[in-house]
Amino acid sequence: MNHTDATTAIFRAAPTAWDELDDALDRTIATRQAAGEDIYVNALSAGCSRGYEAYSLAAFLHEWTRLRPEQFTVTGIDVDPALVARARTGRVPARDLRDALRNGYVPVDVAARTFPLEPAPATAVSFAADPTGTRPRSVRLAARLRDRLKFHVGDLNHPAHMPDDLTVVFAANVWRHLTDTGRYVLARELHQRMRPDGLLVIGGADFYDATGDGTVIEKPEWSAGIRRYFEPAGEFLYRPSPTEAARA
Ligand SMILES: C[S@@+](CC[C@H](N)C(=O)[O-])C[C@H]1O[C@@H](n2cnc3c(N)ncnc32)[C@H](O)[C@@H]1O
Repeated sequence: MNHTDATTAIFRAAPTAWDELDDALDRTIATRQAAGEDIYVNALSAGCSRGYEAYSLAAFLHEWTRLRPEQFTVTGIDVDPALVARARTGRVPARDLRDALRNGYVPVDVAARTFPLEPAPATAVSFAADPTGTRPRSVRLAARLRDRLKFHVGDLNHPAHMPDDLTVVFAANVWRHLTDTGRYVLARELHQRMRPDGLLVIGGADFYDATGDGTVIEKPEWSAGIRRYFEPAGEFLYRPSPTEAARA
């Protein structure tokens, strides 16, 4: 099993996956509000690497979904203790944030509020104006968002530390690192722990392989677990399958 691929990015797969999630989550929350429910969102980053996906999720819930920090929790799980230790710091090398800005993954004003410069107050131009990466060397996730994050070391082939009542799950670019059985176990576990109106985001590399000539080949053995427990709701977005819930 390969645990060495820790590739990640701030707001990775933006805008597509995040736009899909934004629209669907707005509808989910509007439905809950109309039903008079208290709004609280449990989110999970499964295979969180050094935490960027969890940081992005917290920023997304606050900035796009307009939730107050006390209205959400984001849990990150990864098998690699060194990555989890880094994730817990909330620190990001400034060049990684600059890459996200350069790629248009996150608007400058959101980046400046999410990763305020220390000790000086954030200014929108600070990141863009420093292409050499000499100053600052790193930025830190805002304390109000850091407080909403929990990180655990865990092997997703044998899920532990999984929160219940999940509204949003990112299990992105991680399925190919699991065993055949592990993929089924994780998909079933997520299905059981997600709300019926929950949303699962997968990664572009999870079910498909691009060949040298640009052809895209689906890997059925990778997707078998998820296709049983979830149904597609977009390119990167899945919903828990009601058929499977009825069978359980
Ligand atoms: C390619 S990175 C993806 C990171 C993030 N989800 C993203 O898409 O940006 C894959 C991550 O999965 C983790 N991983 C691999 N096997 C795992 C397992 N069995 N249980 C939990 N995490 C695992 C790796 O340590 C790595 O951090």
